[in-house]
Amino acid sequence: MKRNLRFALILLVLPAATALGEGGPLATYAPTLSPETAVLIAGADVEAGARTFERKCAQCHDGAKDGGHSKGPHLWNVIGRKAGSAPGFNYSNAMRGSGHTWNYATLDYFLSDTERAVPGRAMDLTGLPDAKMRAAVIAYLRTLGDNPPPLP
Ligand code: HEC
Repeated sequence: MKRNLRFALILLVLPAATALGEGGPLATYAPTLSPETAVLIAGADVEAGARTFERKCAQCHDGAKDGGHSKGPHLWNVIGRKAGSAPGFNYSNAMRGSGHTWNYATLDYFLSDTERAVPGRAMDLTGLPDAKMRAAVIAYLRTLGDNPPPLP
């Protein structure tokens, strides 16, 4: 009887878990780069990404090599960096505890919906819903580093 009950519970919970399977906070979910997003980043217009960065990010972020923190953390060398780890910036506990490294997949996931990716994050921007625009910004962020990683 007890066993049957457990079985019934599993049957109930499994479909719900599958339905919720994609997504959630980066602390417990490791997104992979979809082939479509990889193509968008590889073929992105970096100049357009730079312009979007100026409009949507630069009021809080400095991306220059000799720059520093402002309202948001310095973004030089952000790709390959552990989230919430730039020395001297006062991150939220949510960002500090999110436990992942910034790469194409995690950046795309974060920038598509920042609150879903890091609930409680201190960054006051919902995200960039347009996949192409996001890819261009990520391709631009790639250039802000000492050793830009290969394009996907
Ligand atoms: C209104 C200010 C603001 C805007 C606009 C903003 N950010 Fe942020 N950003 C922040 C703050 C503050 C944090 C730190 C968040 C925390 O600690 O929870 C942050 C964190 C980040 C991080 C994580 C960095 C790290 O060191 O872990 C990335 C990546 C990032 N922002 C990218 C962007 C991009 C790209 C844009 C533009 C599309 C943008 N942000 C727009 C304020 C902003």
